[in-house]
Amino acid sequence: MQQLEGLREKWLAAIGSADRAEALESIRVEALGKKGEITALLSSLGTLAPEERREAGRGLNALKDAVSEAIKARKQKLDEMHLGQRLQSEFVDLTLPARPEASGRLHPISQTIEEIIAIFGEMGLSVAEGPDIEDDFNNFTALNIPEDHPARQMQDTFYLPKAEGAASPMVLRTHTSPVQIRTMRSKQPPIRVICPGRTYRSDSDMTHTPMFHQVEGLVIDESTHMGHLKGCLIDFVRTFFDIEDLKVRFRPSFFPFTEPSAEVDIGCDRSHGALKLGQGNDWLEILGCGMVHPKVLENCGIDSKRYQGFAFGMGIERIAMLKYGIPDLRTFFEADVRWLNHYGFQAMDVPSMVEGLSR
Ligand code: PHE
Repeated sequence: MQQLEGLREKWLAAIGSADRAEALESIRVEALGKKGEITALLSSLGTLAPEERREAGRGLNALKDAVSEAIKARKQKLDEMHLGQRLQSEFVDLTLPARPEASGRLHPISQTIEEIIAIFGEMGLSVAEGPDIEDDFNNFTALNIPEDHPARQMQDTFYLPKAEGAASPMVLRTHTSPVQIRTMRSKQPPIRVICPGRTYRSDSDMTHTPMFHQVEGLVIDESTHMGHLKGCLIDFVRTFFDIEDLKVRFRPSFFPFTEPSAEVDIGCDRSHGALKLGQGNDWLEILGCGMVHPKVLENCGIDSKRYQGFAFGMGIERIAMLKYGIPDLRTFFEADVRWLNHYGFQAMDVPSMVEGLSR
């Protein structure tokens, strides 16, 4: 009995001072493992006389239970201490200020192009691109603007020095319409594209910069008609400006490459000094459009008896200025970081018809 009491104290003290799970485990092995001290005593019970055996057995079993209980309790305690320490050391202070906002901004032109792509993308149009330096055929002739045609004077063209042996000099494209030509020359209808990009005209004042951006649209198949053109553009301007009942007017106009041609005006109010879209009785011109001229289709190898369609073109700066209240065109190209911080957009907020065009 005495001996058991001694053992009990010894093991409980050892367990109590074990400060790590590994130390506790080796104590368990030494006491209760296959070759452990208490296990050995238990197996020596067989050598005792039956009367002694019962009493010694009871005592030893009680010791064994007490030691395993103590180990279990200590283990739990150590686990809790360990968790506490981890919580301490891996503590995150949620009250600290967040990482500063990324400082770069997306230029309003890039943003506006993304918005236009999102809207027309939803309608099934995909993006087509072409080079800024064009030949005379794609920029003029194929678009039904032959040499000496007065329409060439409509656009103040930048000509490159004429290459030796070339019939005509290359030009900086004066509009995105040559991308419709490239698209139609490279594939047969159905065609549904928009072509955003840089355009150039030798013109510089309050409302013109020598480089600016346009987006062209082109839809060609067997049955596309003026009604589709109207529906598509009315939907576009109402979605882009986020004004559900924006008034839209198609006014007859002239472009050599479309017949009939129209200019599109949207309803606005100018009566109180400021321009307000979607109110009042005034009109503001925002884009040109029309049914692609049969001659243009033929110039591109498309059968004009079988196919027809519409095209439109608009200035991106202009609609960006209107939507985002940017008063001066020239500021778009001054690369003033303060301006960009004010009018720019978060690069991560990608315009989408589902999540919203702009935030
Ligand atoms: N290319 C014309 C311009 O720059 C716009 C336009 C495109 C008009 C397509 C009709 C059809 O003014």
